[in-house]
Amino acid sequence: MDLSEKILKLKKEKKAVILAHNYQRSEIQEIADYVGDSIELSRKAAQEKDAEMIVFSAVDFMAESAAILNPNKKVLLPCLGARCPMAQMLTVDEIKRAKTKYPNAPVVLYVNTLASCKAHCDVCCTSANAVEVINSLDAETILFGPDKNLAEYVSEKTGKTLIPIPENGFCPTHLLFQPEDVTVLKMEHLDATVMVHPECSTEMRKVADYVGSTSKMCRFAKESNAQTFIVGTEEGILHRLRKENPEKKFYLAYEEAICPNMKLTTLDRLYTSLKEEKNVVKVPEVVAKKARASLERMFEV
Ligand code: 13P
Ligand code: SF4
Repeated sequence: MDLSEKILKLKKEKKAVILAHNYQRSEIQEIADYVGDSIELSRKAAQEKDAEMIVFSAVDFMAESAAILNPNKKVLLPCLGARCPMAQMLTVDEIKRAKTKYPNAPVVLYVNTLASCKAHCDVCCTSANAVEVINSLDAETILFGPDKNLAEYVSEKTGKTLIPIPENGFCPTHLLFQPEDVTVLKMEHLDATVMVHPECSTEMRKVADYVGSTSKMCRFAKESNAQTFIVGTEEGILHRLRKENPEKKFYLAYEEAICPNMKLTTLDRLYTSLKEEKNVVKVPEVVAKKARASLERMFEV
């Protein structure tokens, strides 16, 4: 029996469900019960009523959200070191400082934040629903963190003023994409359609035909008549794009756009974590209660 088969057997015995983000290694995506973007995975986590355990193959903030939404389930993060650097860029103190400066502005936080920060916001959002969340608020000036690029994108789409907290939060992986690389690739693939994640820079968005979350990109690629795509997001998504569209061609806008934290989940680590039920993600109830309210407000939108 190979490692994947062992995991699948163990998963059944332990009544566990494996959720994997679109950036996970191919072999992890292959054994997952569900592969998706951050909001889809949060929703799935909330819906898994029969599962006794959730193995969250992703990074810290996603597993934390699952733990917040499922206080009675064991949520495992196969590698505890898998931490999103963007989520680390925002602190509770920073939020408090911004609130003092703009006391009337609601606080909207990207789910790429720590639970302690989510406990200090009015509502959460993901890149898939940020525009709708901002539009749902009866305010023209909004504190938004931690991704400055997402803030700029949403501001363009809604016409509202989004004040970034911190001043310059960013994703180190999406920062790697440069419009010049897209220009070169377009010379090789003349009819290619360019799709990028809103965590990319404004310059990247300007050369894109489509901007969306990871799962929105997957949907767009499926529904589009285009046959060739240049993709501006983490390389793990190529596995799903190619699997779902075997007749279409996908090229990464920058070949080394890899999120090292997403790649820390390996089959070995997942197996050990599930077997020993270790790396349990826990959020203290006093924090979880407030963070849950911010996540639930997002689901309502
Ligand atoms: P998605 O919600 O689009 O999957 O994005 C999560 C993320 O971490 C992007 O870097
Ligand atoms: Fe965080 Fe960027 Fe990795 Fe997404 S790709 S988990 S935002 S570091």
